[in-house]
Amino acid sequence: MSRRLNVGIIGAGRIGKVHAEAIAFSIPEAALVAIADVQAEAARAVAERCRIPRVAATADEILRDSSIDAVLICSPTDTHADLVVEAARFGKHIFCEKPIALSLDQIDRALDAVDKAQVKLQVGFNRRFDPNFMRVRVAIASGEIGTPHLLHIISRDPGPPPISYVRSSGGMFLDMAIHDFDMARFLIDDEVTQVYAAAGVRVDPEIGRAGDVDTAVTVLHFANGVFGTIDNCRKASYGYDQRAEVLGSAGAIATENVFPNRAVISTAEAVRRDLPLNFFMERYAESFRNELHAFVDAVVGDKPVPVTGADARASVVIALAAQKSHEERRPVRLEEISQVIAATGL
Ligand SMILES: NC(=O)c1ccc[n+]([C@@H]2O[C@H](COP(=O)([O-])OP(=O)(O)OC[C@H]3O[C@@H](n4cnc5c(N)ncnc54)[C@H](O)[C@@H]3O)[C@@H](O)[C@H]2O)c1
Repeated sequence: MSRRLNVGIIGAGRIGKVHAEAIAFSIPEAALVAIADVQAEAARAVAERCRIPRVAATADEILRDSSIDAVLICSPTDTHADLVVEAARFGKHIFCEKPIALSLDQIDRALDAVDKAQVKLQVGFNRRFDPNFMRVRVAIASGEIGTPHLLHIISRDPGPPPISYVRSSGGMFLDMAIHDFDMARFLIDDEVTQVYAAAGVRVDPEIGRAGDVDTAVTVLHFANGVFGTIDNCRKASYGYDQRAEVLGSAGAIATENVFPNRAVISTAEAVRRDLPLNFFMERYAESFRNELHAFVDAVVGDKPVPVTGADARASVVIALAAQKSHEERRPVRLEEISQVIAATGL
């Protein structure tokens, strides 16, 4: 493809705006040509900021526009599967935010459509493109720390989302921890076989009344023998806490949080520094740009996308197993999830 990739955006909320800005200001190989949101005002505001020439009335209008090569699906999770199916039907290449859906049958329906249409689909596991986590991946893949034994991921939000979001999110494992399940697979480069999750409500009883948990520790077993822990909480009073550590036979590698500056303030009372970058828009800004660069590059150069539909599916299987483990207070093997799906057609 010699010309610029024409891109349409569906959904102009928090993440739609982040992606629009990435394309508009950092990716000259792509051009934003239209944006749609059920709240027209949200679409208009992003269009104005990112100089997008057209605000479409509906997502369908974007999908039917033959001048558009690729779409970014940034609307709420419960709209993703249908939009992926429709976008594939119209021959669009697709970048879809995580997760594609909360159930495996919906995901499989979407992946089938993508497969039949032979379009590209990349899923929004942006953290893989964060330079810190990429360095951990390189250290493991190159053998720099020997054979990996233990993985620890700490992933805590600065504060819980609104209860309305909690109710429709699919729950903490499918909405929040899913990034960490993907990160675990990405870093260890192997499949999880069993999970054991201990979870509860420690932050806000309203979250419990909405049927969700806000604090969890999940123990992962990998096929290659590595053990992992993922520590999630919806609220860390000091801000967004995103770290990983891997211990291997020849050493360890660890990442720190990202700070707005490196200044250290020393007084007679204490030595201190400013808090880490507060939430995903700031902390992962670079990774959001990098993931879209990779998507545009894959489409323009007709190369494989770096995060696939199979990756999207695998993380949902782990999340469903973690949810089941928490509900039944026992370790759950991942094959149980596919057996349940096969038996009940869920
Ligand atoms: N990768 C990440 O780090 C990350 C971060 C945040 C959100 N997300 C994902 O992105 C998705 C959106 O989350 P958000 O936080 O931006 O939500 P949001 O509520 O801020 O934005 C969603 C927008 O989509 C619009 N919308 C709803 N239905 C629509 C439709 N049918 N067509 C067009 N627009 C529609 C809404 O009006 C809203 O403006 C979710 O699936 C979420 O899991 C991913």
